[in-house]
Amino acid sequence: RPHLSMNALDGLTVEEVPLARIAAAVGTPTWVYSAGALRRRARALKAALDGAGLRASVHYAVKANTSLAVLRVLAAEGLGADVVSEGELRAARAAGIPGAAIVFSGVGKTERELRLALAEDIAQINLESAEEAEMLSALAASLGRTARVALRVNPDVDARTHAKITTGKSENKFGVAIDDAPALYARLATLPGLEPVGVATHIGSQITSGMAAYRSAYARLAELVQALRAAGLPVRHVDCGGGLGIPYRDEPAPLPEALAGAIKATLGPLGLPVMLEPGRWIAGPPGLLLASVVLHKQGANRRFLVLDAGMNDLVRPAMYEAWHGILPVGPEDFVAPVSPADVVGPVCETGDTFARGRALPSLKPGALVAFLDAGAYGAVMSSTYNMRPLAAEVMVDGTRFAVTRDRQSYEDLLGRDRLPDWLGGAP
Ligand code: LLP
Repeated sequence: RPHLSMNALDGLTVEEVPLARIAAAVGTPTWVYSAGALRRRARALKAALDGAGLRASVHYAVKANTSLAVLRVLAAEGLGADVVSEGELRAARAAGIPGAAIVFSGVGKTERELRLALAEDIAQINLESAEEAEMLSALAASLGRTARVALRVNPDVDARTHAKITTGKSENKFGVAIDDAPALYARLATLPGLEPVGVATHIGSQITSGMAAYRSAYARLAELVQALRAAGLPVRHVDCGGGLGIPYRDEPAPLPEALAGAIKATLGPLGLPVMLEPGRWIAGPPGLLLASVVLHKQGANRRFLVLDAGMNDLVRPAMYEAWHGILPVGPEDFVAPVSPADVVGPVCETGDTFARGRALPSLKPGALVAFLDAGAYGAVMSSTYNMRPLAAEVMVDGTRFAVTRDRQSYEDLLGRDRLPDWLGGAP
């Protein structure tokens, strides 16, 4: 995490900006993103793909972090986007990512979403079923358009990650069975309004167990492409999906060079350009969640550090038993003696626990802490549960920082409720 440093005077610092300054200006909880780290990771990923001699395009999975500022930084690095909804498509376009660099994934795209994708003439729509192919064909034909489509294949491999984020097994809802793919691909070529341009897969997320699952998925994809070619069907590129894991806890995690090598070894012989859809690897490490200590509570047999951030802000620990590093921010807290504490939020659920028995100093009310590697699937998964406003977002770039998303106001939070006349009308 080269964008983070500990400064004896200012405490934990992102690039050149002490987190204490951000907290003083913006309050907490607040998400903080390092523009420099985003750029560095985008470049490192592209360098790994180039280094393996691949012709590759990177389509950042917008779902990981939809901040327009984040998208703008990545757009300036030449990244395209992988979107899964109208909202994400609009965000990508608003940040300046051209339609020609956008891929649309997802198992339940609505007609309205497909219409927008056609109107924006995006690069590719990844089809997940025969039913969806029929629907898009009818729509595109009626609009006099041709949709470039890829067929998302479910390779039935186990990515050996958390069950909730495994997507490439046959029992998962994603993609079409690889055995059905040749016939369906042939059918795509005959349907009006569709132009099949390739095959796609995505086997899961936070893959840290090595390249074995990737290799077997891509090897199956390569076989499929050869079968399609033998049947005289055109295949212009292969979409390799995302999923590359990051070390949340200094566990071994593969580098992009390993993924590039796995792609080269399996799909390289086809001589086709490849697409990648990384989300977490790009956006995770550059982000953190800054929170304040509300109080320190001594329970019957446990020490609780109660924060002003809750599971409504960062849901990953509650939802996936995820581990996030938690660092004190103040320079004196950084060197203070530590003992085990449970780090919890204020939400009225036992699941609102970020960490159990974490070695931390006895932080005073108002002290700051930072949740590390929270840039991906952090802010985007937050909710207003317990009527808690969505947190602010800040981007740091060198010595500057700016609020890139206002904290939700209570007017925003309450303002969309309506009271019908028969309940007494407006408050
Ligand atoms: N492409 C497709 C089709 C996907 O479904 C996903 C993620 C990605 C790409 C990006 O995967 P990544 O490179 O970020 O692993 N909320 C969970 C992660 C859900 C991932 C969903 N799909 C978490 O917090 O761990």
